[in-house]
Amino acid sequence: MNVVTVIASPRKNGNCKALVDCITEGITEKHGSNKVYFVDDMNISPCRACKACKNLEKPVKCVLEDDFNRIMDEVAQADAFIFAAPNYFGEINAQGHIFMDRFYSMTKTTLNQLKNKPKCIVIHTYGASDGYYDEYINKRANRFRSIGCEVIEVLSVGKNRPTAGDCDELKEYARNLGRMLGE
Ligand SMILES: Cc1cc2nc3c(=O)[nH]c(=O)nc-3n(C[C@H](O)[C@H](O)[C@H](O)COP(=O)(O)O)c2cc1C
Repeated sequence: MNVVTVIASPRKNGNCKALVDCITEGITEKHGSNKVYFVDDMNISPCRACKACKNLEKPVKCVLEDDFNRIMDEVAQADAFIFAAPNYFGEINAQGHIFMDRFYSMTKTTLNQLKNKPKCIVIHTYGASDGYYDEYINKRANRFRSIGCEVIEVLSVGKNRPTAGDCDELKEYARNLGRMLGE
């Protein structure tokens, strides 16, 4: 089982990364692998709305020459795709938005939808109480469906966990997700 993860948080040891680490532990236990990327470490520009990707007479992938197509080509070869983003002022943070806006080039009105239908886990972390952003992030998860992912889990985690502590159960839940993916 090969998994590709994209983390939108700028924090290399933050809550998104801590949850991804637990999932990776589960994946590795089952002899799978997880390749983890941070949006901040990549060169990914915002969508320019040029709509070249929507011209079905001359179909192309996103014409921006940066790391987005490279990463999504890896996702297209993977069994699963994990995306993790923190909440900033009620929404996915800027890095997450920049990444997800580029999905415009991969919706069903293009020829670039993911044909491998990877299993997908969407992670959203925040400081508010658990569940506070469930409705928001569940809606956002549809963007992953629109590019061909099979969303199997939306992990919405509040109270600045897991780094704020009190989270053994949460970490084990995340490990189990990894074990399930790894099988
Ligand atoms: C600029 C900024 C804005 C934030 N806004 C919110 C917010 O509106 N609601 C909330 O619950 N948490 C908010 N937070 C807290 C983060 O969402 C939370 O700590 C998250 O788990 C960080 O994830 P990370 O450690 O992976 O970066 C904000 C944090 C920052 C830095």
